[in-house]
Amino acid sequence: MAEAQARQRGGYAEDVSAERLAEIGLRFEVDGEIATITLDRPEKRNAQTFATWSALARIGENLPEQVRVVVVKGEGPSFSAGIDLRMFTPEGVPGQGSFSSAATSGDSDIAQSVSKAQAGFLWLRRPEIVSIAAVQGHAIGAGFQLALSCDLRIVADDVKFCMKEPALGLVPDLTGTKPLVELVGLAKAIDICLTARTVHADEAMRIGLAEKVVAGSDLEQAVRDKVAELLATNRDAAIATKRLLQGAQGRSLEEQCAAEGREQAARLKALFGG
Ligand code: ACO
Repeated sequence: MAEAQARQRGGYAEDVSAERLAEIGLRFEVDGEIATITLDRPEKRNAQTFATWSALARIGENLPEQVRVVVVKGEGPSFSAGIDLRMFTPEGVPGQGSFSSAATSGDSDIAQSVSKAQAGFLWLRRPEIVSIAAVQGHAIGAGFQLALSCDLRIVADDVKFCMKEPALGLVPDLTGTKPLVELVGLAKAIDICLTARTVHADEAMRIGLAEKVVAGSDLEQAVRDKVAELLATNRDAAIATKRLLQGAQGRSLEEQCAAEGREQAARLKALFGG
């Protein structure tokens, strides 16, 4: 049933069974209000493929309603070394094609497949959830963008963020450019992307990329603590507040004040109304 609905909404025919996800190199676990997505191809530094992104989209489409926090993490020494480099070879990833074959497609086909890939990242911003990236080691290209798709980033002190795409002749197109600019500002985003340099933990903390830096051995606990803090607040107030905060940059002060009033009216009615 859920799969049929997902098919209707996203056009994806594949399932999100543990077996299918394992083939792709992903794990997905739900424990009450907490969902955990684990990139699970450590021997390839959690490199991502088209299948990773379409599975992430399907996980988002099928996310159980009770989930309030989604943790995204990577198995092994690196969060993710980005796109699977086989996708740049003529052979590509078996069953998934390659960029060199995509290059012969029309612009609208390319835009459509970029948009499909982006669906794997976009849902992590939904107001109904708070997403946390737990990042250790390398977060390169698509790995950096996956971390940027999350609301919060808690990082190990060995973290290495790198937006490698421009160095490879590409642009970052997995929804990462907007949160990067919003987090660090335009000048710093230009510096980070156009030099494809590595941002280490101390700088990530200083420029607002990371909420918290901890020793690698403390990463899991630090994420657990943050999840517990987030779950301690009223769910509906958290959703309404995230919605307000997300809309703030696109609104004038006057509009934002009006939006606060509308959200508060709904809250007061829910809390005290008859
Ligand atoms: N795609 C496919 N395989 C990869 C990738 C990748 N992106 N990254 C690592 N691997 C594989 C390696 O080929 C190696 O496989 P092998 O054991 O079969 O030889 C294995 O993962 C381990 O990699 P090492 O390089 O040995 O690991 P190390 O920890 O020394 O280095 C690092 C990690 C720095 C991440 C390095 O692997 C690397 O530079 N990877 C490529 C990063 C990259 O350019 N990504 C694309 C960014 S652009 C984008 O995402 C759109």
